[in-house]
Amino acid sequence: MADDTTDTKSSNQMWGGRFASGPDAIMEEINASIGFDKKLFAQDIRGSIAHATMLAHQGIISAEDKDKIVHGLNTILSEIESGNFEFSRQLEDIHMNVEARLATLIGPAAGRLHTARSRNDQVALDFRLWVKEELEKTEQMLTGLIAAFLDRAEEHAESVMPGFTHLQTAQPVTFGHHCMAYVEMFGRDRSRVRHAIEHLDESPIGAAALAGTGYPIDRHMTAKALGFREPTRNSIDTVSDRDFAIEFLSIAAIAGMHLSRLAEEIVIWSTPQFGFVRLSDAFSTGSSIMPQKKNPDAAELVRAKTGRINGSLVALLTIMKGLPLAYSKDMQEDKEQVFDAAESLELAIAAMTGMVRDMTVNTARMKAAAGSGYSTATDLADWLVREAGLPFRDAHHVTGRAVALAESKGCDLAELPLSDLQAINPDITDKVYDVLTVEASVASRKSFGGTAPSEVRRQIAFWRDRN
Ligand code: ARG
Repeated sequence: MADDTTDTKSSNQMWGGRFASGPDAIMEEINASIGFDKKLFAQDIRGSIAHATMLAHQGIISAEDKDKIVHGLNTILSEIESGNFEFSRQLEDIHMNVEARLATLIGPAAGRLHTARSRNDQVALDFRLWVKEELEKTEQMLTGLIAAFLDRAEEHAESVMPGFTHLQTAQPVTFGHHCMAYVEMFGRDRSRVRHAIEHLDESPIGAAALAGTGYPIDRHMTAKALGFREPTRNSIDTVSDRDFAIEFLSIAAIAGMHLSRLAEEIVIWSTPQFGFVRLSDAFSTGSSIMPQKKNPDAAELVRAKTGRINGSLVALLTIMKGLPLAYSKDMQEDKEQVFDAAESLELAIAAMTGMVRDMTVNTARMKAAAGSGYSTATDLADWLVREAGLPFRDAHHVTGRAVALAESKGCDLAELPLSDLQAINPDITDKVYDVLTVEASVASRKSFGGTAPSEVRRQIAFWRDRN
């Protein structure tokens, strides 16, 4: 599959009619997209088969020519799939590479394929088909990641861990609840993917260069054959729009941001200082100099891939922002961004799904950390409101004094003797100790969406139904 870089000075066989000589070598290099758009070969051939079939059905080309074209295209498909196709840079892109080969295979009939079509609607079609398939793959992969989290959440619906704000211990939560937070995020990412599929489910082919065509084509027929809901409605928009690609990149960037936050948590949790999780050998690496180390490289790379995806989104937005309607060659630069982001996103989701499934959760470490840092102080304040009738602000103040006292004594709230607590507020009774444990704390938070195990199980059931 070597790119042919020889600089012959003959003009381009596809569009060179009015040109006396061929392009300068640099022109060829900057112009050619075959190096990356060969990835679209299957979509290109599918699109051409649908187009040729429609042309014959409408009497625009003969059935005989259509048969030759379809047969030739199928031959090219297997040539490319088996690695027996020579891509040529002189032929610029995948569209012209396929068409030139078709001419070699079937002769003059090949020249009829491009009737009522332009590379502008052809590339819009190929790329849309590719992005649609990628979105479908992303949807499935997110479903797999959600399933991994649901399993871990179920297993740990009762495991207590510290919940953080500002990365400072805030209140005890359950690990199951924390897992379910990610289920919500990836669930929204998946619904964004589904909406994007709906948005792009319109067939571009037949918009031609930009104005439509005078041939009696049937765009509904090609739309149906290619699995689109309907044809696009405006030919100018059709060839100049790339927001389906930008939407893919935005979704990838948002999902990437979620994946990266998870990656960051895994990096923190797996430090010896935290020790909340242990990554499996399959998703970590050792150090070449420090034998004790187990590094969360996969999580770190997920975090980094997100930077790359963001770069692709900004690149394509910037490429598109100044373009007058309709097609400009700038738009050729859309593909690499999307291909690169798609590869990064797939890898990131796959790696995270593996890590989440494989990691060992150290519930003892989590529980010990959950109880430190006066994490049940809010429970003491709530008890004072509920049992002693204090306004919350006063209860907050009393609790603050209890925390300060415990701090000065170097003990936990639950370790303060009753006499100490009563010296701060005489209404406190020994019943207060029931709410100062981390288990009591999480069990009490039964509000809708809260961290109580019963509530987490309800959330899990909700998502199991939808996954
Ligand atoms: N390789 C081109 C692209 O990716 C195909 C469309 C070319 N159209 C044109 N009018 N030159 O955008």
